[in-house]
Amino acid sequence: MNNLEELKQELKDLNLQAAKMRDLPPEKRAEFGRDLNRKKQTILDKIEAAKKAELDIAAEPIDVTAWCGVNEPMPEFYPTELGSKHPLMTELDRVVGIYQLMGFDVIESRQLDDEYHMFDSLNFPKEHPARDGYDTFRTEEGLIPPAHTSTMQHRVLKAYKNNLDLGKPIAVVVPGRVFRNEDVDATHEHTFYQCEGVYVSKDCTMGDMLGILREFFEKYYEQKLNIRTQPGYFPFTEPSLEFMIEKPKSLGGKKGDFLEMLGCGMIHPNVLKIAGIDPTKYHGFAWGGGIDRLVMLRYGLGDVRYFESGNLNFLREF
Ligand code: DAH
Repeated sequence: MNNLEELKQELKDLNLQAAKMRDLPPEKRAEFGRDLNRKKQTILDKIEAAKKAELDIAAEPIDVTAWCGVNEPMPEFYPTELGSKHPLMTELDRVVGIYQLMGFDVIESRQLDDEYHMFDSLNFPKEHPARDGYDTFRTEEGLIPPAHTSTMQHRVLKAYKNNLDLGKPIAVVVPGRVFRNEDVDATHEHTFYQCEGVYVSKDCTMGDMLGILREFFEKYYEQKLNIRTQPGYFPFTEPSLEFMIEKPKSLGGKKGDFLEMLGCGMIHPNVLKIAGIDPTKYHGFAWGGGIDRLVMLRYGLGDVRYFESGNLNFLREF
């Protein structure tokens, strides 16, 4: 019981004593009553003071670094735990590292972009339904948190155009955070990561692209893989493909268990033209795929939502 509660109890006891007045002879009652009132006033004064003191304590600034173990002695040192790199960032470094060993430059994508880079520069015709395929968020100013890392293609082509004049290819990968207005579930997140690849030269072919992608996935999963492609549709590539790998046995896959890993294709002549590159002289290919999915397969994770959750039990496993 704290001081205030004790005082309130005393006050109650005193009030009970008042009932005794009836048993006293009349000439003693006045004296008894006066005595009782004096005591009561003293307690009321103390209660008032105790209430004020409590308020003063509440108004004191709080030392958030103070030891707050309730029943434990204060330790010699405060227990500390250092944070660590997020597993997605560790994996993104591995992804980018593999491409760097193949000679690709790395540029990070933006987290806020615009209509032009999201759609127009990528050969999405105005009002074309393909735009609806990307459920983008929009800011009040009309800017777009990018729904794919392809928003960087136009910038990469323009910034590296000079390579071509010097007889060198354009070879760049773009890791980045992307955002979609998705219904979130175990396989869909509103925020995730992608890595884009862009390659342009005089004489590159789709065979080169498939070679690079196979090499990448075999390095990432540290084993030989079966790959497969099927036709796809993206306005910025022609032809467009969906690239699949057979889920390795070591990761719980069965024969014929093909997983779609990314979209890819030969860069559409219009996309090169818009960036000021002559499509009759140069060819290119590009690809883009989710990092989260890649990592989930590697570690056998069943729920994409862990990555953005900040769940410490999950993060400590890495
Ligand atoms: N940006 C596409 C997506 O997120 C994937 C993609 C397809 C990227 C084809 C490419 C590409 O660079 O050539 O759905």
